[in-house]
Amino acid sequence: MRINDPNLLKRLSELSVELRPAAKLSELTSLGIGGTTDLLRITKHDSLPDLLAFLDENHIPHKFLGGGSNLLVDDGELPWVVLQLASPEPDVVLKGNFAHVDAAADLGRTVTFCAKHDLGGMEGLIGVPGTVGGALRMNAGAYGMQIGSYVREVKLYRSATRQIETLRGHQISFEYRHTSFASDDMMLAVILELPSKPYTEILKGIRICNEKRRSSQPLGQKSAGCIFKNPPGASAGRMIDELGLKGLSVGDAQVSDRHANFFVNTCRASAKDMLALIASVRERVQKAYGVALENEVVVWNA
Ligand code: EPU
Repeated sequence: MRINDPNLLKRLSELSVELRPAAKLSELTSLGIGGTTDLLRITKHDSLPDLLAFLDENHIPHKFLGGGSNLLVDDGELPWVVLQLASPEPDVVLKGNFAHVDAAADLGRTVTFCAKHDLGGMEGLIGVPGTVGGALRMNAGAYGMQIGSYVREVKLYRSATRQIETLRGHQISFEYRHTSFASDDMMLAVILELPSKPYTEILKGIRICNEKRRSSQPLGQKSAGCIFKNPPGASAGRMIDELGLKGLSVGDAQVSDRHANFFVNTCRASAKDMLALIASVRERVQKAYGVALENEVVVWNA
């Protein structure tokens, strides 16, 4: 979708929005898949209510993009614009055990920055790609920890009230890869309370997690992490592996031969290929185990 009208462009610039016309979503997602649309980079949180009202008034549909690391976007010309927060400098400020983090901050860099200041707890998240806002929305977790455990306060834009609101940690429910945020809430900033730990000790934990990840996940390839959530008490990766589906492919979309719950884009996979592969694996697992696997990856259909 394109915004060409000079009046609309002028208003966007008044709202401190940087317009990147015809952005390729394949370049903004870790899967390397996705069509083209205008990207609106938001440089001031406070302009969001007016920006969203402006988009509504002008009948411009939109979606919020975080780091693009858990996302499968449709092919071709997309029928909505994409909004993304620009990261401020600095994007993490520490006050005692509290880390004030902008939602656009890179998750891995945030974990490392806190670690260098003797704040731990998030070692397991070190290799998880994406932004802090994205991790928050999905309650990202790995190796026995989840980001939700450390959240004390979240600033977000709520589409339902059309306002910027602040929620205390106890007002939010964090479950396995699920939170009580609405799908159209936009994370803006978070305060994390992290336990004090010496850097050298945190580093040991980080190294162990990195090693586990390297040995079991296809890190060098284009993927969106795990495609399916684990069903209660079971492992989607193990089930897919047991069915002998590693290497199964549709076009350039392939079940990783390293970890069966990672589907990789080996060269120029389309969303259509990836969706067909997801459907095929889901059907086979359903047939063999009677389990309906739920997507962990977020799908943006055009
Ligand atoms: N397994 C296989 N074959 C495979 C993959 C896994 O047999 O191809 C077996 C493993 O040997 C292990 C079990 O399945 O016994 C579980 O595998 P793993 O330890 O890799 O964990 P997972 O349940 O597949 C979860 C998260 C990952 C996270 C890891 C480490 C989900 C859907 N996945 O994977 O998160 O990195 O634990 O904590 O919860 C993600 O969310 O995108 C993600 C990658």
